[in-house]
Amino acid sequence: MLPLESKRIVLGVTGSIACYKAADLASKLTQLGAEVDVILTSAAEHFIRPLTFQSVTGRRAYVDKDLWGPEGHVLHVKLGKDADLVLVAPATANTLSKLAAGQADNLLTLTILAATAPLMLAPAMDGGMYDHPATQASLETLRTHGASIHGPVSGHLASGLSGMGRMLEPAELAGYARVTLGAGGPLDGRRVLVSAGGTQEPIDPVRVIANRSSGKQGYALAQAALDMGAQVTLVSGPSALSAPTGADVVRVQTAIEMRDAVLAHAAQADILLMAAAVADFRPSNASDKKIKRAGGVPTIELAANPDILKEVSQQANKPAVLVGFAAESNDLLSNAQGKLASKGLDMIVANDVSAQDAGFEVDTNRVILLAKDGSQDELPLLSKYEVARKVLEKALSFLK
Ligand code: C5P
Repeated sequence: MLPLESKRIVLGVTGSIACYKAADLASKLTQLGAEVDVILTSAAEHFIRPLTFQSVTGRRAYVDKDLWGPEGHVLHVKLGKDADLVLVAPATANTLSKLAAGQADNLLTLTILAATAPLMLAPAMDGGMYDHPATQASLETLRTHGASIHGPVSGHLASGLSGMGRMLEPAELAGYARVTLGAGGPLDGRRVLVSAGGTQEPIDPVRVIANRSSGKQGYALAQAALDMGAQVTLVSGPSALSAPTGADVVRVQTAIEMRDAVLAHAAQADILLMAAAVADFRPSNASDKKIKRAGGVPTIELAANPDILKEVSQQANKPAVLVGFAAESNDLLSNAQGKLASKGLDMIVANDVSAQDAGFEVDTNRVILLAKDGSQDELPLLSKYEVARKVLEKALSFLK
């Protein structure tokens, strides 16, 4: 299952040098499963050809000439009405000004007037043009019409100058598109708290006790919850992954920091998904100076870390649904059953981390969902995103 399956997106591309990034955006949205109908303005056609977009979307890309072709008088209405989302990236000062005034002198502006779907705009232009009162007034008007404006950001500009005006990166725009398309989904109005990644427990200022958790399953849970319309807080241990756009991210290092962050957010959450690999032990006396080899082999004494899930389950104000994860290398089911009961959970997601294609670091997982009601769902090998969707669907069934 792809995240944007059966979603239709009109991607408007207008005449800015950031057009070259629009091809990457079209590709990313297509890879997420969306049907992407690209409309280029005549200025955009100078920068980039429709064929580029057709090649990455597998669908026809439209240009102004199509407005006057055989299907002309209904094309814009059809494109506009069929869309679940209209995204203009890059959006030039000229197009923003036309849209603010309700002008419809080309296929893109006509389509936007005809559309009822949410409108996302990603401005890209030189800094001076962006700052101009006319452009600012257009953006203000468009906001009051309900459009969402994403970017621009500050940095290198094609003029050689540096300043405000760069289009937001395609990955981030795709993230906002997912949040917009997810609104009204099955988790609409729900708050989901996710913990992800492994914790690190300092031995001295340069060394830590860590584990092999990459954060992939937890980040996939956060992204899936956003796609289903939830408000998401992600408490993450150190991870190389970029956080899903739209999630509130709290970064922590140690188990104690993770406990504090999870407890601080748990009372407001409807669902807690505790996917983090929390270190069970920490060095009891971390050295504040680097331990030297000359001092001989050190002995590291350990102290027990708090069990975060257990603490949450004992709170009066706790999420309605508590989900734990059990990564096991042996006796998978009996170990997971034990944790389900001892930690007071509604569900535990059990996986055998000794398999090559499941568990730590890889993009796939094979899990069994064990619920408090005794049900056991053994899922086949799936992407971590697909596992996340299944876990959330099951968690949602407990909420209802
Ligand atoms: O480490 P263990 O197998 O007990 O982890 C099972 C579940 O408990 C996981 O969801 C994990 O995030 C959580 N856990 C926790 N606090 C700990 C250890 C684990 O909340 N100190």
